[in-house]
Parts: sequence; structure tokens; C-alpha cells
Amino acid sequence: MTMANEPGQTAAAMRAHAVAEVIGRVRSLTEGRQDIGIAMAQGICEQMAQLASSTGLWNADDFPIPEDKLWQAYLLHEDSDGCHAMYAVAMKPGHAQPPHNHTTWAVIAGVRGREKNTVYVRDGDAQQARIRHVSDITVDAHRVIALGAQDIHSIEVLGPGNALHLHLYGRGFAHLGDRLIFDLETGIGTPFPVIQNIN
Ligand SMILES: [Fe+2]
Repeated sequence: MTMANEPGQTAAAMRAHAVAEVIGRVRSLTEGRQDIGIAMAQGICEQMAQLASSTGLWNADDFPIPEDKLWQAYLLHEDSDGCHAMYAVAMKPGHAQPPHNHTTWAVIAGVRGREKNTVYVRDGDAQQARIRHVSDITVDAHRVIALGAQDIHSIEVLGPGNALHLHLYGRGFAHLGDRLIFDLETGIGTPFPVIQNIN
């Protein structure tokens, strides 16, 4: 994040520059692929970990959560074709989402606070589906999680204190109209409403 330490730059300008640098590196890693492999995901995780560790770029005052909400997303970048969408997501303890997929790859890096991720995969076809628990990963400062397009996770923000995480997706929220929420018992998926809670 080369500009992060230059004097005379506003936090917003430094943030925009740092985000653009990461997006450029990620774009060159993925070369436009929507279906990335483990090595690419690893490279993206490394980029996002470095960005999240530049804590001077991520002051809580710049990413407030409205009093009547448990979370708020802020758009940091999205390519003109909807790809490589990055958000800062500010969350209060107690914010939770049921098991869901993303239909694109996702990398989530912690700046501060703790978010418990319970990770699942779905085996079998739609009639014989089974949701299988894979791991529990608490994403906090310096920790990153990568999820494939059909991987499933549920989240719960743990205390103490609010969390701020950086999310990078292969495609932005507005382009993810086929996401599903899963019933753990039956394996049946139902539509996940397109996320609108973005500033
Ligand atoms: Fe998610």
C-alpha cells in the first residue's frame, strides 16, 4: 500500500489508492476467470490481508452503522462490468446470516472485531441434498477466509465491540440474483434476497 504512508494525503485518498492497487493485482491474478482455483484464492487472500492490516485506512468513524441497523456495507470498488466488487462491512455484535452461498468466489479479511464463520458444503443433487459441516473459522484482525462460488457459510458477529471486515467478490451484490439460503436439515435452498444495504 505505497501511498498509505505519504504525508498530505487524506485517508479517503489513501484508501482509494490502496484499494485500486489491490484490485489491479487481483485482476492480474484471476485474468477474468469467474471460477478461480485454490492457488488464485491464496493469492487474493494475501492481498486482502495486507489491505486489512493497514488499519489507518479503516477508521470506524468513516464506516458508521446506523442506530437502527446491525450492519452496513460500503462499496469500495466495482469494475464497470460488475466484477471485482469490494466492500467494507461494518457490523455490530449479534448480526447473523443463515447458511448461504454466493454464486461467485468471495474473500473476507478482518480489520477488527470477530465474526464466526461456520462453513459447509452441499453434497448430492437437489432431491438428495445434504449439508455437511466443514469447519468453524472466526475471522478477526489479520485473519482471512476464502469461499468458492458454491461453498456455504453462516456468520455471527461475536463481541466484544463492532467488527469491520473487507469483502471482495468475483461479482458485486447487484449481480448475485441466484443466491440461496439453505435449510441444514433438508438441504433445500430458498432464494437469498439481493443485498441492498450498501452505501
Ligand atoms: Fe456470505
